[in-house]
Amino acid sequence: MSYLIGLDVGTSGVKAILINPRGRVVASAFGEYPMATPKPLWAEQNPEAWWRAAMSTLRRIVKIAGGSTKIAGLGLTGQMHGLVLLDSRGKVLRPCIMWNDQRTAEECSEITSMVGEDRLLAMTGNPVLPGFTAPKILWVRKHEPAVYGNTSHVLLPKDYVRYRLTGEYASEMSDASGTSLLDVRNRRWSNEILQALRIPAEWLPSLVESPGLTGGVSRVAAQATGLREGTPVVGGGGDQAAGGVGSGTVAEGTISVTIGTSGVVFAHSNTYRVEQKGRLHAFCHSVPGAWHLMGVTLSAGGSLRWVRDTLCAEEILLAKKRRVDPYEIMMASAARSPAGSEGLLFLPYLSGERTPYPDPHARAAFIGLTVRHGKSHMIRSVLEGVAFSLRDCLELMKAMDIQADDVRVSGGGARSKLWCRILADVLGTRLSTVTSTEGAPYGAALLAGVGVGIFGSVTEACSRTVRVASSTEPGRDRVLYDELYQIYRQSYPQNQPIFHSLSNLSNK
Ligand code: XUL
Repeated sequence: MSYLIGLDVGTSGVKAILINPRGRVVASAFGEYPMATPKPLWAEQNPEAWWRAAMSTLRRIVKIAGGSTKIAGLGLTGQMHGLVLLDSRGKVLRPCIMWNDQRTAEECSEITSMVGEDRLLAMTGNPVLPGFTAPKILWVRKHEPAVYGNTSHVLLPKDYVRYRLTGEYASEMSDASGTSLLDVRNRRWSNEILQALRIPAEWLPSLVESPGLTGGVSRVAAQATGLREGTPVVGGGGDQAAGGVGSGTVAEGTISVTIGTSGVVFAHSNTYRVEQKGRLHAFCHSVPGAWHLMGVTLSAGGSLRWVRDTLCAEEILLAKKRRVDPYEIMMASAARSPAGSEGLLFLPYLSGERTPYPDPHARAAFIGLTVRHGKSHMIRSVLEGVAFSLRDCLELMKAMDIQADDVRVSGGGARSKLWCRILADVLGTRLSTVTSTEGAPYGAALLAGVGVGIFGSVTEACSRTVRVASSTEPGRDRVLYDELYQIYRQSYPQNQPIFHSLSNLSNK
């Protein structure tokens, strides 16, 4: 039996999964690590912690596989956009500045004026955002010149783990797309941008397409992980692109919606196309020669978690007594309120927003409270508000003539029948869940299978392994939700000046 490994260097930990060639998940292991916030808006992690978690999770699943000779290949995936700086001997120079770090607003403006707003959008498919990698390099140049002066290599998080596994400085197109340094249309580093920003091209890793081989496991790494020396390691993908592969979103017409802490609407595209104002991310897909468009709701499951932690102490206690998940009690409560929450709207901008309003100062709000409204209305309106925000992303895609014939939902939120029902009604489409629930690491394992020749292509890998598990059709509440969505759409633009004044006031 030839097994495949998908290794996900995530925000809260490393997840390693082992699948067989029929796509069944045989084993998985998780190793956690912390995230540091040394200052407000900062988010950092120690790359050594990723490697320690990778070693221990790999050792566990190699054991379950029955030994290293059973493993045909490994694919990497992980949190995107993070900046890892190494010196000429491969030593880490400072903690990784992560995807959710917001310190670089000033550098983003500098890059926009150095490259030109239109040129940047045309070449990289996106405006430069504070979470992306390039502005972080400029921040280090300005604030930590000694670190900058010693830099010889720039890597993304999963590619640092690749370096420790194989000794290679390599990346692949999908993750490289989130750096603001890739010519996304032509799938190569952009000399024009590198020159404009005065970043040495030789600092950047070599690039492959996602199923491409990037060397084999070194002798030292083999001893550390239990893998066989020479085990092939493929490019893999950024967590969203690999997740797209994991849910079978590898052809036009298929869209995936993920409700995790954040919510993502992800569409495959055979051609390079950019939303006219750059409100959707346009990145290379992990399908060679294809792209994807993506909208992000920053607080999706995160909004519900916030309600749980601030308003639902009672539900948490009851859940403890009944030995169930507090979310189960909250969902039952939400189900007692009618669709539309009797005119209560929730705007989910608890941590600012990315799509369609790239606004760190946007604020969340309940709009329309009356004395009739209680907690169950509030929980339901959070589920509905997140669904409206995901619809905002889908509407931008539809305006670009992206087909949404087959919408696949995954992530923690998809475990709730009520949330899937609301989402199907709000989006006005059939929603399916798929059999593979592992997302990004599953996609990375499939990419490894393509790289080592078990599957002929990414599309073949998906058609042989990913199956639809259940479907929800839109129901009669669709009409009501359409009306409510029109009101939701006006709510951010009309409240934006107030959000900004409140944000200014609290930052004084
Ligand atoms: C993608 C993004 C997140 C991070 C962390 O643009 O910011 O998916 O990769 O998961």
